[in-house]
Amino acid sequence: MIILFLACLAIGSASGQEDAAIIAPIKPLPVKPVLPAITCANVLCIMNSTCVMYEALNGKMKPYCLPIDYKNTCAYTKCKCFEKCVMVEVTCVTTPCYPVPECRPRRIVRPPIKPLPTDPLPIGRKKRQADDLSLDNPLPVVPVNPCDTVKCAAGTQCVLHDAVCRRPPCNPIPSCEPIRCPEKNQEWLECGPFFCPKRCGQEQVMCKAMCRPGCFCKKGFCLNKSGKCVPDKNCGILNE
Ligand SMILES: *[C@@H]1O[C@H](CO)[C@@H](O)[C@H](O)[C@H]1NC(C)=O
Ligand SMILES: *[C@@H]1O[C@H](CO)[C@@H](O)[C@H](O)[C@H]1NC(C)=O
Repeated sequence: MIILFLACLAIGSASGQEDAAIIAPIKPLPVKPVLPAITCANVLCIMNSTCVMYEALNGKMKPYCLPIDYKNTCAYTKCKCFEKCVMVEVTCVTTPCYPVPECRPRRIVRPPIKPLPTDPLPIGRKKRQADDLSLDNPLPVVPVNPCDTVKCAAGTQCVLHDAVCRRPPCNPIPSCEPIRCPEKNQEWLECGPFFCPKRCGQEQVMCKAMCRPGCFCKKGFCLNKSGKCVPDKNCGILNE
């Protein structure tokens, strides 16, 4: 509906331009200004609060002013070495609804393969040549993950597939695929109990009512101490 409405607006204004052209020379359409990205660099937080960047549910990074004494942040979170901490938006029933830290596996981005130099240099000079190249080209080449520009529907994720091409580098092809949960007896939920998953040997807690999309134990299963989803009936016994 909105798209249709916008499309209508666009057609409407375009025909308006044409009408105007009969009596007045066509003015170039105003160029939409590119707004600078809002980051912590251009956000001023009120006293006793500090700016952190967090990932909104739409995947975009946004700034957030958190109380200075608030500890549930990446600065206080220890992730495994192959993980990185990201502050993420959650859905809350109560306010304030602060973003929370989440440890995520680092995305492995393969840099594009550089074509080999055509004239082979003596071994001793190879290192030297690399230095020269870096001097000529001081900006590091940041590998771009093709998935960064792909917006997948809810419940699907962007997966990179190897591409075959005639001339390297062959950039991998992104595609949206249903999210497969890494563990047995898990399912993907758009709004799952991120903070209070059903754990073995614990009563179902009503913690802060927040949810996050993610992989959670299916109905009838609960999380044991090793982070596996086990049938409810095995759970109580294991944690006695
Ligand atoms: C900021 O924190 C200080 C010390 O904790 C306190 O004295 C002051 O009243 C706070 N200011 C505001 C605006 O909350
Ligand atoms: C959790 O469940 C898995 C799979 O059933 C099992 O191998 C593991 O020993 C369990 N861990 C604990 C702490 O009970």
